[in-house]
Amino acid sequence: MDKLVIRGGEPISGTIRISGAKNAALPTMAACLLTAEEVVLRNIPDVRDIQTTRKLLEAMGVESEGSGGHHKIALRARELSHPQADYELVKTMRASTLVLGPLLARTGSARVSLPGGCAIGARPIDLHLKGLEKLGATLRQEHGYVIAEAKRLQGNHYTFDKITVTGTEDVLMAAVLARGETVLNNCALEPEVVDLAALLVKMGARIEGAGTPTIRVQGVEQLGGANHSIIADRIETGTFVIAALITGGALRLTHCQPEHLQSLIERLEEAGASITRGEQTLTVAAGAKLRAVDVTTAEHPGFATDLQAQYMALMTQAEGTAVVTETIFENRFMHALELSRMGANIKIEGNRAVVRGRVRLAGAAVLASDLRASASLVLAALAAEGETIIDRIYHLDRGYERLEEKLRGAGAAVRRLGRLIPVPHAAGA
Ligand code: UD1
Repeated sequence: MDKLVIRGGEPISGTIRISGAKNAALPTMAACLLTAEEVVLRNIPDVRDIQTTRKLLEAMGVESEGSGGHHKIALRARELSHPQADYELVKTMRASTLVLGPLLARTGSARVSLPGGCAIGARPIDLHLKGLEKLGATLRQEHGYVIAEAKRLQGNHYTFDKITVTGTEDVLMAAVLARGETVLNNCALEPEVVDLAALLVKMGARIEGAGTPTIRVQGVEQLGGANHSIIADRIETGTFVIAALITGGALRLTHCQPEHLQSLIERLEEAGASITRGEQTLTVAAGAKLRAVDVTTAEHPGFATDLQAQYMALMTQAEGTAVVTETIFENRFMHALELSRMGANIKIEGNRAVVRGRVRLAGAAVLASDLRASASLVLAALAAEGETIIDRIYHLDRGYERLEEKLRGAGAAVRRLGRLIPVPHAAGA
């Protein structure tokens, strides 16, 4: 199993190019199921979750072309011989359930494994299912699978009981081919939802209000091909912003979309960071000492739960006490224990973590428990004295494109230990 070895304690500096957003790539890839024509996606990050999604789509009969290294993929769902998402893939990537809505809308049936619990919480998909039922699907569960059927989905009004990102995306993809009008209320406002809607509109869908709580869809008979470049990864961007600050360094991030990171940037400025926003660039410099600032995670445009772990690592290096409150997932503090092993002073009280800084972090052997927790350990390791060995970094490879190369380019001492099995590029070859 691969490990990362990081020798910390030195400021990093330089320029880093931000990749496309994994969480935008996944739903846009699933959207190819809605048409028999070719969908070409650009700025696709070369990460493991994309390869998994590609396998998932290919198993259904989708033809795909392109290589991860070129960040472009062409998908064509001429015929869907096997409208099914097997447990083997769903268990490695929960977002596989995003194929449910489009499969059902296009073929009238879908058989998708239910995801189990996951490291950060229960994460059910009941709200996806309720939404699809509202559009006329009949659902049953058998042997851990959801089996959904519908002759033709029928537009309707549906209000999500709770804001869900992939839930909004799943039901939206079903609604675009439903008969008549669908009105979805209490939708997620995340930029990834807006990006998916932009692709669907290029494919011929009629959608209004993406990025607001109410999305209106006029169903169409069929959709066509499209060419789309996905948005920049705001979580990767935020992770590198924090990397600059936690090491007392400076970074210029290019090909990013600062407008998607308002909440993080505001908190960091309050903490004393100097951040300059360009149209597609962010320049970060550590400046004076950082002050502790509290955050509470929330749905977009609030503070992203996917940046909570990284922010917690940063607060170990700020003067004072910061309270980090997690409101989206019930079990998303696993990094706190590992950070404590590196010398952090963090007390967990229910959904609040009280972080007392500033402490000296020291390298240690630590275990990555999920994607963003892994990122927080990398950040802490960059700030720590001595060597940190991070185990189970396959979590990191799911969502960060060549993280160690990018960090090395900025002067960090990072190397990968492992069996050196090359991660296969999501290649047609
Ligand atoms: C997406 C992101 C993930 C991010 C999360 C919150 C992708 C591929 N993943 O995950 O990186 O951390 O948004 O910003 O885009 N819930 C239910 N029932 C449902 C659906 C959700 O109770 O049917 C709950 C969840 O357990 C959670 C909350 O709603 O407590 C929000 O989850 P949701 O927005 O659905 O997260 P994901 O879409 O899975």
